[in-house]
Amino acid sequence: MAPTILVTGGTGVLGSQVVPLLRSAGHEIRVLSRHEREAVDGVEYVAVDLITGDGLAEALTGVRTVLHLAGGPKGDDASTENLVRASERAGTVEHLVLISVIGADVVPLGYFERKAKSERIVADSTIPSTILRAAQFHDLTLTTVQAMAKAPVLVAPSGIRWQPVASREVAARLAELTLGDPAGRVADMAGPRTYTLEELQRSYLQTVGKRRIRMPMRVPGKAGKAYRAGVNLSTETPAGTETWEEFLAARVPAA
Ligand SMILES: NC(=O)c1ccc[n+]([C@@H]2O[C@H](COP(=O)([O-])OP(=O)(O)OC[C@H]3O[C@@H](n4cnc5c(N)ncnc54)[C@H](OP(=O)(O)O)[C@@H]3O)[C@@H](O)[C@H]2O)c1
Repeated sequence: MAPTILVTGGTGVLGSQVVPLLRSAGHEIRVLSRHEREAVDGVEYVAVDLITGDGLAEALTGVRTVLHLAGGPKGDDASTENLVRASERAGTVEHLVLISVIGADVVPLGYFERKAKSERIVADSTIPSTILRAAQFHDLTLTTVQAMAKAPVLVAPSGIRWQPVASREVAARLAELTLGDPAGRVADMAGPRTYTLEELQRSYLQTVGKRRIRMPMRVPGKAGKAYRAGVNLSTETPAGTETWEEFLAARVPAA
């Protein structure tokens, strides 16, 4: 049976957790990313760079549902535009699901602005859609604090709060949304607790047994103001249940 669900970015942190859930629900899956891979157990892989869009028509052959997860620091709006236009041309796509980020329309940073543009492209398409905004994943939070802790002096931006969420739980929600009917913009998904960036840094340093001299820093400009106002936070449900501390304990060996 040919796949009818296309998952863009299905090899990433989030995608690699959604694909097995869709498989276990009995669906054949086509995964799109920029790199070739051998097909395995009901999952085939196609290499397409969404920023050029070359090869999208073939990737969408027979597809009824598109789960769009592919993303990166640059070009998300161009990728989404190419994917949506190609999906409309394909004529078979009945449901397009997009992952976005909490604060997409209010955090004045390029990544968020491109996500907001992607949301508008999807919502304005002729294809019925579902859009889920998520908070930063625990995985990204860990990468961020690890990178910050590499320097001997720890830059500690003040007043910034995150609500990190388990990518596993976002993946489960996305699988549910992908297999359901188009629902428009659904409730945001954040983690169960809010932390200052300083708390996230401190808990990581304690876990790995490192000490750092802290250098408090006030993030300047509109982005700093927006973060201090908490526009990146959510009070909506369904919220994730796994806390940052639980993730850290499971992922990072204690010193
Ligand atoms: N990480 C977070 O905290 C967070 C929070 C909210 C929303 N999101 C959004 O969730 C999505 C998935 O995040 P993630 O953390 O799983 O990302 P990730 O691990 O970096 O994975 C990105 C995926 O997209 C593919 N990709 C990237 N650029 C592409 C392109 N031009 N054409 C085709 N495929 C491309 C990558 O595969 P190749 O490299 O092989 O192309 C990979 O499969 C992203 O859209 C991200 O913005 C993330």
